[in-house]
Amino acid sequence: MCDVRHRPIGVFDSGLGGLTVVRELTRALPHESIVYLGDTARCPYGPREPAEVRRFVLQIGSWLSERDIKLMVIACNTATASGLALAQRTFDVPVVGVVEPGARAAVQATRNRRVGVIGTVGTVRSGAYSHAVRALDAGVTVFSAPAPKFVDIVEAGLRMDDSPLESLMSQTADVFVRPSFYELARDYLDPLKRAGIDTLVLGCTHFPLLSAAIQQVVGPNVRLISSAEETAREVRDALEARGHAAPENADARYAFVTTGDADEFRRLGSRILGWDTGPVDTVRVETLEALLSPDLEKVLSDPSEEA
Ligand code: DGL
Repeated sequence: MCDVRHRPIGVFDSGLGGLTVVRELTRALPHESIVYLGDTARCPYGPREPAEVRRFVLQIGSWLSERDIKLMVIACNTATASGLALAQRTFDVPVVGVVEPGARAAVQATRNRRVGVIGTVGTVRSGAYSHAVRALDAGVTVFSAPAPKFVDIVEAGLRMDDSPLESLMSQTADVFVRPSFYELARDYLDPLKRAGIDTLVLGCTHFPLLSAAIQQVVGPNVRLISSAEETAREVRDALEARGHAAPENADARYAFVTTGDADEFRRLGSRILGWDTGPVDTVRVETLEALLSPDLEKVLSDPSEEA
């Protein structure tokens, strides 16, 4: 395709969570086409070593690059924390992650300059949010806590309950409001509450689906930040600055691809988006693995990439 404005935006995540970012992208940029890859077969990324996640980032980035994309969004905090800088150095399109936009929104929201972050083990261990917040405002203190089981709860909740997502996300949804959820949530969140945070970043793209229940645990005085909206704004700015935004008469097309079960991805993904994804394609993990050229293998084995 010769007119870059009509090329799609490439988006990926370890699975379904990144669809919370796609939902905001389609709201903010209704004329942009999107190709989304959910690496469901290898989800979760959170407990994996950063080097392995970086390998996945280069594989999926290579796959998306073959789809003639004009910009790439890493809609996964874990993959952003481990692989954003590497992806930006490797691919010849702009690459946007979700950590910096979330950090910016938190810095703008906090009044007492005490910000909490919950995410996967990989994201919290990387310190990516602390670095991003400090770069924006060195006077803000970040308190982080891993909340790995929230990913499983979202995945299980989506599979167990067929009610509309809005009610699933509301405080009355059985799946998330079981006493065991609150016990777990208190374990994760009480230390942050005791630290006196007034802002909490949902540092995992799965977590916005738990926001009502999390809000109930942290109380009404803590502002929740999901990076999805801020990421959509950053994508819009990046496209407009380059003159690459789709024209207003463009028809957006969406393509969804998974490394896992296509029917399940369509069923669950459509609930997150609030509209039918249409038929979902699959790509084999082996196909992604085969995309790593010897040059990319060399990049991955470079010790200076050990972020
Ligand atoms: N969606 C991923 C993230 O934002 C979390 C899920 C996973 O562990 O793969 O970090």
